[in-house]
Amino acid sequence: TTETDHSLRTPIVAVLGHVDHGKTSLLDRIRGSAVTAGESGAITQHIGATAVPLSVISEIAGELVDPTDFDLPGLLFIDTPGHHSFSTLRSRGGALADIAILVVDVNDGFQPQTLEAIDILKRTQTPFIVAANKIDTVPGWNPNEDQPVQATMEAQSDRVTSDLNEKLYEIIGELSDNGFSADMYWRVQDFQANIGVVPVSAETGEGVPDLLTVMMGLSQRYMKEEMEIDASGPGVGTVLEVKDTRGFGTTLDAIVYDGTIRADDTIVVGGLHGPIVTDVRALLRPRPLEEIRTEQEFEQVEEVAAADGVKIAAPDLDDAMAGAPIRVVRDRDRDEVVAEVQEELAEIAVTTEDEGVVVKADTLGSLEAISSTLEEEEIPIMRAEVGAVAPRDVRVAETAGEPTHQAILAFSVEVLDDARDLAEQEDVKLFEDDVIYQLIERYDDHVTEIEE
Ligand code: GTP
Ligand code: MG
Repeated sequence: TTETDHSLRTPIVAVLGHVDHGKTSLLDRIRGSAVTAGESGAITQHIGATAVPLSVISEIAGELVDPTDFDLPGLLFIDTPGHHSFSTLRSRGGALADIAILVVDVNDGFQPQTLEAIDILKRTQTPFIVAANKIDTVPGWNPNEDQPVQATMEAQSDRVTSDLNEKLYEIIGELSDNGFSADMYWRVQDFQANIGVVPVSAETGEGVPDLLTVMMGLSQRYMKEEMEIDASGPGVGTVLEVKDTRGFGTTLDAIVYDGTIRADDTIVVGGLHGPIVTDVRALLRPRPLEEIRTEQEFEQVEEVAAADGVKIAAPDLDDAMAGAPIRVVRDRDRDEVVAEVQEELAEIAVTTEDEGVVVKADTLGSLEAISSTLEEEEIPIMRAEVGAVAPRDVRVAETAGEPTHQAILAFSVEVLDDARDLAEQEDVKLFEDDVIYQLIERYDDHVTEIEE
């Protein structure tokens, strides 16, 4: 380390994939392996994220990783629940995640949310690898806990190996159908040109050493320069979720990806009606699991440095949006920071017209993704907002001139009862889905039906 504040931050790794394909189990297993490796205290659970330091990675990866080859501090994993679109994870100019692990169940192959994830990875040009999970479910599998995957594959019968290979080649074929050339990770030389497939089991830990090795290598090789930050500068982050926390009112679950945020900072957050300026009341971290018996689920911290997850308690957060930017003011001019946030919100803002459909989405990122798909299909948008579908949205939709435009596309949001009733009454069509391309497909089908 040098005397300057320039340092390398932890790369942010998004773990994504279809519901039940094993994202959370994989992270649980990594935490479990750390405990086995005698490093239980070293892994920390953060808000929406798990930090795994290099020492733990090299302990788990064994001979696959030589820690002296690396100077990045480790990896910060973000788990994305299957029902929640990965597109939330946005930051200025693209994806919040530096790299991603796309988890695919070897038995199920590609499913709707796998395709959606691939779409967004493509759009945001996020490098990724595929974890072909649940290899232990191949009939006849002989488990070798926590072993590197090639070793455990060699220890299987020919029949089991060929069954597994068949499943793996199906996944490689689906990647190719989606425009990615892919191969087993040990045959990939250039991870920018080819997607590496890592067979793993979150159940037995087989392949987990490989997964960590590949992610660490990928970050070190291709992302090191982007990880250089001014470590003590005013923080920059993204809102993951806006939610009520007992004793603190409306709070933000956020990822800080640059600088620091302190418990006495003033911050500017993107809100439904523009930037919100507010003073941090508390920075909260989940207590370590063994301490959760105590009354408080969270502990207060004085400062959080990038890259890290944190829960921010502050007044006036009710209108904050998931996917919106957060910026710390610190010793800068407050109006300048407000202007920065304003500008960033304007970049995300969807172009709306006098005629078109209404789009409601759970986060700014998903709103952005849906709108750009609609734009590609030349479907105009009259209103695009984050939030539940309310009666006033129906009122807007019914003013559309074209019958095909009297529609609301609702992505992963609640539809208020009175809005649903009103839509039916006014003959406004309501489309709901939590997979973007399915939502748009359903709308397209409806249009085709009307036009026929
Ligand atoms: P969502 O958060 O709902 O999207 O699901 P997820 O992707 O986080 O899946 P989760 O980790 O919750 O796993 C779903 C189910 O699959 C659980 O019952 C796990 O025990 C099981 N599972 C996950 N990974 C493996 C594996 O490698 N082998 C086996 N046999 N079961 C697994
Ligand atoms: Mg999960």
